[in-house]
Amino acid sequence: MDFKQLVSHCKEYGFIFQSSEVYDGLAAVYDYGPYGVELKNNIKNYWWKSMVSMHQNIVGLDAAIFMHPKTWKASGHVDAFNDPLVDNKDSNKRYRADQLVEGYCDKIEAKIKKDVEKARKKFGDSFDEEQFRTTNGRIVDRQKRIDDVMTQLGEHMRNEDMAGLKNLIVELEIACPESGSREWTDVRQFNLMFSTQLGNIAGEEGKLYLRPETAQGIFVNFLNVQKTTRQKIPFGIAQIGKAFRNEIVARQFIFRMREFEQMEMQFFIPPGTEMEWYKYWKETRMNWHAALGTPASKLRFHDHDNLAHYANAAADIEFEFPFGFKELEGIHSRTDFDLSSHQELSGKKLQYFDPERNENYVPYVVETSIGCDRMFLALVSQALQEETVPDAEGKESTRIVMKIHPALAPVKVAVLPLLKNKEALTKAAKDVFDQLKLKFNCQYDEKDAIGRRYRRQDAIGTPYCVTIDFDTLEDNTVTIRDRDSLKQERVAIDQLTSIISEKIDISQVLAS
Ligand code: GAP
Repeated sequence: MDFKQLVSHCKEYGFIFQSSEVYDGLAAVYDYGPYGVELKNNIKNYWWKSMVSMHQNIVGLDAAIFMHPKTWKASGHVDAFNDPLVDNKDSNKRYRADQLVEGYCDKIEAKIKKDVEKARKKFGDSFDEEQFRTTNGRIVDRQKRIDDVMTQLGEHMRNEDMAGLKNLIVELEIACPESGSREWTDVRQFNLMFSTQLGNIAGEEGKLYLRPETAQGIFVNFLNVQKTTRQKIPFGIAQIGKAFRNEIVARQFIFRMREFEQMEMQFFIPPGTEMEWYKYWKETRMNWHAALGTPASKLRFHDHDNLAHYANAAADIEFEFPFGFKELEGIHSRTDFDLSSHQELSGKKLQYFDPERNENYVPYVVETSIGCDRMFLALVSQALQEETVPDAEGKESTRIVMKIHPALAPVKVAVLPLLKNKEALTKAAKDVFDQLKLKFNCQYDEKDAIGRRYRRQDAIGTPYCVTIDFDTLEDNTVTIRDRDSLKQERVAIDQLTSIISEKIDISQVLAS
């Protein structure tokens, strides 16, 4: 299923709507509909359980979005949270200069991929992709071109060399995707923080920022949490919450939004141990994705050469979205940058007495940070499929099915009376619904033929449909239809709750 179909499916089936659609929408801001909010809550629940409930030494926090403005000075966001901005003089369209260069490389990468796929078809089972990529002359040249350009981009970004970036765009003859024009303004830095104003203080003094990451609420609360929970280092603080960034280019649906949600965990550790914890969290987070059934071929690490102002090591977990491999989650070794800066600017000690080392120090931090919306997009893009299956009469028909993990599915069970106008059936079905709703997010549906009702549930990813038929009235049994295998199993009504509980249980995922 292509990306356009995915976006319209999300709208048509009540997962995601554009914000303020009646006013033609607000760019890069989205609202989650009835099924979207359920799925998003389930993602957050899975993250929270695996991060907080499963770890004795990780505790939760819910800090405010607004923070003292000095927070953002100390964190470096006022001075360094910038993206390089460039305008095309003919189309007046704005772009991120680094993304224009990355887009140039993506095009070369797409050509490489095409050649690889051609060769795979030609050589069949004996095809060795690694060998082909390293020995085929054309691919080697193209890969070298990508590496050269990315190295130059990395240097310009690191040195904040805006003139160098502009020259690179000109040298590579990059044209505006909209107008085809190569007339570019100079590249300049653009700060991504949104600001607003306190009502009772005028001017700069009253300027507030909407947080661009949730992490800072954790840093400034480090001692409050440590003291009140009597945690010993190493320990972590986890938080889920909104973040805001004035993204220059907001494309690709919920991949890059101006208002989004982060799930972040800051792990406080003794100085000098950061590389070992960095490695640990990289592996742990990759396993978290794999546990949900995401194939290894769709996930990869990308180690950063170009480090953010606070990090001494950083990697992304990239997922293969419909528009290519892109960042899904970041794991960063943030050193003691944030705590030391807050300590300096606030004049308050943010230190920990380590009884084992018998010394005071400012802890180092390794963080894991994942966008909930990106996780949503990753899950939906791999789950949504079009396939051919037999219909109720055994004829072949196509269906759109969202094969999302049952533990995360928005609706767990649909209760369907076989016929709508047989009161005995609808009554029995409503009784079953009343029993199941105590335990699961369920739907009762009696409208349309049974086949169409199954298709509606497939489209929103409901893993189980319980059908009440005439046998139910005789023997108190129902059928459970499995979304993926389409198998129907006859079971007693009084066993339904326990059977479904087992099938949708998140603990199997958490234990793996
Ligand atoms: N505290 C570290 C931090 O914020 P980041 O790499 O800038 O690091 C972390 O962001 C994660 O937040 C990303 O991996 C991504 O999943 C998500 N994210 C960042 N910007 C986003 C945006 N504009 N829209 C949606 N998700 C975003």
